[in-house]
Amino acid sequence: MTRRSYTIYAVGITSAVLLTVGIGLFVGQVFTTLMQNRLKKELILVEGSRVFESWKRPPPPVYMQYFFFNVTNPDEIAAGEKPVLNQVGPYTYREYRYKDNVSMVENGTKVSAYNTKSFVFLREKSVGDPSVDNITTVNIPAWAVMTKLKGNFWKASMVSIWMNSLGSGIFTTLTVDELLWGYEDPLLARLAPSYPDVEPYFGLMYKKNGSNDGEFIYHTGEQNYMDYGRVETWKGQRSLNFWTSNQSNSINGSDGSAFHPMLEKNERLYIFTPDLCRSIYMEFEKDVEVKGIPAYRFTPPRSVLASKEENPANEGFCVTPQECLGTGLLKVSPCRKGAPVVASFPHFFLGDEKYVMDIDGMYPQREHHQTFLDLNPTTGVIVRASKRAQINILFSRISGFPKTRQLKEMIFPVMFLNESVVIDDASAARVQKLLLIVTLVSNFPLIIVGLGAILLLVLIILLVRARNQQTTTADDTSYSAVSDKEKEDPQNGTYIGLTAKSDPQD
Ligand SMILES: *[C@@H]1O[C@H](CO)[C@@H](O)[C@H](O)[C@H]1NC(C)=O
Ligand SMILES: *[C@@H]1O[C@H](CO)[C@@H](O)[C@H](O)[C@H]1NC(C)=O
Ligand SMILES: *[C@@H]1O[C@H](CO)[C@@H](O)[C@H](O)[C@H]1NC(C)=O
Ligand SMILES: *[C@@H]1O[C@H](CO)[C@@H](O)[C@H](O)[C@H]1NC(C)=O
Ligand SMILES: *[C@@H]1O[C@H](CO)[C@@H](O)[C@H](O)[C@H]1NC(C)=O
Ligand SMILES: *[C@@H]1O[C@H](CO)[C@@H](O)[C@H](O)[C@H]1NC(C)=O
Repeated sequence: MTRRSYTIYAVGITSAVLLTVGIGLFVGQVFTTLMQNRLKKELILVEGSRVFESWKRPPPPVYMQYFFFNVTNPDEIAAGEKPVLNQVGPYTYREYRYKDNVSMVENGTKVSAYNTKSFVFLREKSVGDPSVDNITTVNIPAWAVMTKLKGNFWKASMVSIWMNSLGSGIFTTLTVDELLWGYEDPLLARLAPSYPDVEPYFGLMYKKNGSNDGEFIYHTGEQNYMDYGRVETWKGQRSLNFWTSNQSNSINGSDGSAFHPMLEKNERLYIFTPDLCRSIYMEFEKDVEVKGIPAYRFTPPRSVLASKEENPANEGFCVTPQECLGTGLLKVSPCRKGAPVVASFPHFFLGDEKYVMDIDGMYPQREHHQTFLDLNPTTGVIVRASKRAQINILFSRISGFPKTRQLKEMIFPVMFLNESVVIDDASAARVQKLLLIVTLVSNFPLIIVGLGAILLLVLIILLVRARNQQTTTADDTSYSAVSDKEKEDPQNGTYIGLTAKSDPQD
């Protein structure tokens, strides 16, 4: 055999091996699996892991915006007319979040933490000064008291007289600061001495600055990556006791700050939110991209807040059968000391048309009122998110309170919030780097296949050349044009000379 045929064999075998190995690795997804196992190992909530520090103190800035519905016709509403509301906002706060008293529990298989949040007002991102801007809205403490006394005629009559003497009606005018961070309510102050569980102060965010909502125990994800960040217990409980079915009371999913890697488009993501006193779920909506990072957008579907007729699984959220509300609402009174508070998406987005029609000033829009989570599917990292929720009061006639006599039954919006976050540039750069490594390693078999293909090409060229030489030496006359050309080519000539001689090594 000639040295030349050695080359051909060597090239052929190497190419065949590379192609087989490359395609085998690619089809077997060996490197992708390796990479995924690596991610599953690194994305866990233990000291020293890649994500632990940013889980404890998330670097991306979170903004909390509050929008109020200023009532323009309180007297007419009391007389039975349709409310005309004016949206006022945003009042924007920078929200600082960190996990407090983080400690490993149960032999390091779980992690315990308190979620502390504090809020600092940002004047330049707000419409006005919360310490002087006056908002006319529902007198929530009065409604809470009135609802509590429903059916108790004598107490109701007495409180009704107090309310008149204190000038406390069904609406009130307060500054944004008072509404959010608390004020002393005259009616509550009057009741407090005789009822020890009544606090004289009220505010939608009263005592929420710099505080936490109880102890959470999370799975670390070390045993199963699907459990990464999943809530095991809240305030020592594995489930809630606000609702009437086990399914409604279950604590499912994470707290919304961590999601497992390798997200699938067809999965339901559960999130437990203490604000809503329940777990909700989100489903894939579309592919998006944020700062060059690909992401899946997950959003809560209509079925989450659907009425029990539309989604029988929601029956457990009706406190009593008479208190079942329509689609798009969640009565949260069981976890608000019985106050007639109803949660919804802003402007009754995804809710029954009826609630929108009852109020002048509701304009639900997906773009502004949808809650969403944009998650990078490979790492589970949150690249952008907006949590939007509205607080409403259930209006109805309450016997014993003449002020409510002419009211129409309706869901009265008070305020909505927009809590949003976009990944910061430094974190985005880190995620991009990680994704690049994942892509390179996962596609390593393709590089092998590529090399194999190049060698295959070389092999083909070598074979064609070898054949040409054979034909030229055998059929000199019939292919005179070719042979002429080859005679002109000195390089080719020497090559022919070499092959023509019998190889000394043979
Ligand atoms: C709310 O409405 C009242 C009366 O309609 C008005 O005086 C007040 O300025 C409004 N508040 C804001 C913040 O626009
Ligand atoms: C954290 O631990 C300290 C000391 O043990 C304790 O004083 C503090 O109240 C704890 N913080 C929370 C939020 O429980
Ligand atoms: C922790 O580990 C020890 C020894 O392995 C075991 O005896 C104990 O029951 C474990 N505790 C928990 C809470 O799992
Ligand atoms: C919340 O507390 C921080 C300090 O703990 C303070 O700087 C901030 O102004 C407070 N925010 C509000 C709205 O009171
Ligand atoms: C808000 O109401 C208070 C008391 O009625 C008043 O002193 C203040 O000027 C009002 N603020 C604005 C911005 O109108
Ligand atoms: C909520 O916040 C995000 C980010 O700050 C902003 O883009 C969006 O317009 C806000 N939504 C509303 C209803 O203002």
